[in-house]
Amino acid sequence: MPIEQLNVGYDNFCYVLYCPFHKNAAVVDPGFDATKILQMLTAKNLMLEYIILTHHHSDHTAETKHLQTVFPSSKIVASEADGKKLSVKPDVYVNDGSQLKLGNVRLDFLLTPGHTKGGICILVDKTALLTGDTLFIGDCGRTDLPGGSLAEMFSTLQEKIMTLPDELIVYPGHDYGEKPFDSLGNQKRTNKTLRAKNLKEFSMIP
Ligand SMILES: [Fe+2]
Repeated sequence: MPIEQLNVGYDNFCYVLYCPFHKNAAVVDPGFDATKILQMLTAKNLMLEYIILTHHHSDHTAETKHLQTVFPSSKIVASEADGKKLSVKPDVYVNDGSQLKLGNVRLDFLLTPGHTKGGICILVDKTALLTGDTLFIGDCGRTDLPGGSLAEMFSTLQEKIMTLPDELIVYPGHDYGEKPFDSLGNQKRTNKTLRAKNLKEFSMIP
C-alpha cells in the first residue's frame, strides 16, 4: 500500500497516497511546503486527483489552493462540517462510511469529531489509518479549540478507533510521538487516551 509520509512545517505530517498502476495520487493535509509535496508527485510521476483535508485547521490546509493551481482537475475532499470553515470550497463531501477509489487503492472515511466538529480519519486499503489530529502516537488531539469536545473525542476514540483491527498502521497528523507511526494494536495498549475506561478517567488525563 503506497503511502509517503512527509514532514512539513515544524512538526506536521502530510501524506501522499498513490496507485502505482494508475499513477494517480491523493495528498492528505497539505498545511505547508507545497514545493516539497509537488517534488514528491513529480519524482514519482503522479497525477494529483484528490486533496483530502482531515480537518479545517490551517496547519493542515494552507497549501490546498497552491496544489489545486498546479493540478486544476484535482478535487478537494472534506467533511461537510469542516468544509464550511475552509477558505476553499470542497468538491467532494465525505461522511462516516464514505468511500473513494484512487486507482486500485480504496479509501474509507470515518467521521471522528472531538478535535473539530467535522474531523475525519481515512482508512487506506484497510491497512493504514490516517488520523489527522484525532489520534497521535501516544496522545490524542486537543479538544479545547472552537468546535472541539472532550465528550465527542472520548466517543470517537472508543467507538470509531478502538473497534478497528490491531494490524492497522496509524499515521498521525503531527510528529508528536516517540515514533512517526505505529500499529493500532500497540497504541491500544500504550496510548493513555485509548486506555481511559470512561469519560471521567479520560478528562483527568494531563
Ligand atoms: Fe488541528
